[in-house]
Amino acid sequence: MTTFETYLDSHKGGALNDELTVVLLNIAEATRQISKKLRTSSLAGLTGATEITNVQGETQKPLDVLSNEIMLEACRKSRAVAFAVSEELDEEIQIHADGTYAVIFDPLDGSSNLDVNVTVGTIFSVIKAQAPDDTLKNGRGQIVAGYAAYGPQTSLVLTVGRGVQIFTLDDAGDYVMTTADARIAPETKEFAINAARRPSWDDVITAYIDRSIDTSGYNMRWVGSMVADAHRIFNRGGIFLYPADRAKPASGRLRLLYEANPIGFLVEAAGGAAIAGKIDILDIEPTSLHQRVPVIFGSKKEVTKIREAYAAAERAIEPA
Ligand code: AHG
Ligand code: MN
Ligand code: MN
Repeated sequence: MTTFETYLDSHKGGALNDELTVVLLNIAEATRQISKKLRTSSLAGLTGATEITNVQGETQKPLDVLSNEIMLEACRKSRAVAFAVSEELDEEIQIHADGTYAVIFDPLDGSSNLDVNVTVGTIFSVIKAQAPDDTLKNGRGQIVAGYAAYGPQTSLVLTVGRGVQIFTLDDAGDYVMTTADARIAPETKEFAINAARRPSWDDVITAYIDRSIDTSGYNMRWVGSMVADAHRIFNRGGIFLYPADRAKPASGRLRLLYEANPIGFLVEAAGGAAIAGKIDILDIEPTSLHQRVPVIFGSKKEVTKIREAYAAAERAIEPA
């Protein structure tokens, strides 16, 4: 049996040093606590919305706030953490002045699904950072990335750069490895998109989805929690799209630093692809902490079709 702890131990001296290992152990502990809070949230009155709006104009749920606190506590317990960057914080906060890493997180992804008992998650990544500006690095600078998916099971999915491992929380509170080296199937016929937003898509996305619907054998799934949609893709392939959207901020809904980058890092480590159009998500140079980007990821062959369609569309409008 390989537990999360023994897996981290086996990478000491390689991708992980002692300090990073402590950071990851504390993050794993935070996800155990969040998982526990979620299980009885209705009984504890942790449902509905708060009166608070976060920096992105979204109303916070009590569990958004609580999960954020739990993740911040995990950062405080880790001496090596210099900064925490969260979807629920206005800006980065300093944790330890002599720290060398930033932990970047979406404490609770898919929180609109909380009151209906559908899978939600915590997304995180760790980068090197000693000054506030270091938090604005492109996704290739991530050292580790992962997420916890809180569904019928609590799963912890992690990459330390190469390969993706999936752990399942057992009754004793241990994360036990249940999939070693998860790979995203290169070909797939399952797509995930909020189809109600079709009038706001660009021509490339509209054509891709229309073609998929017209081609026999395609299937659609949309959970509304990116973590849950991503988890399905890690397990049986597929493609996820939250594209540019004319009616939302033009760059779509999802945030680069704490949603797109960690998932992009995991997806590439599992042999899939993650793009914002013509370019890889991991190559986007961030300009602000809460920047939003179009997000398309999953099975390589499908993602490549879209990347090539964007490149062709751009060629078509270039002056001769
Ligand atoms: P969050 O709950 O952290 O704000 O993120 C929600 C995101 C993502 O998880 C999901 O894929 C998407 O929003 C759902 O968007 P729609 O409401 O358009 O379906
Ligand atoms: Mn989210
Ligand atoms: Mn969130």
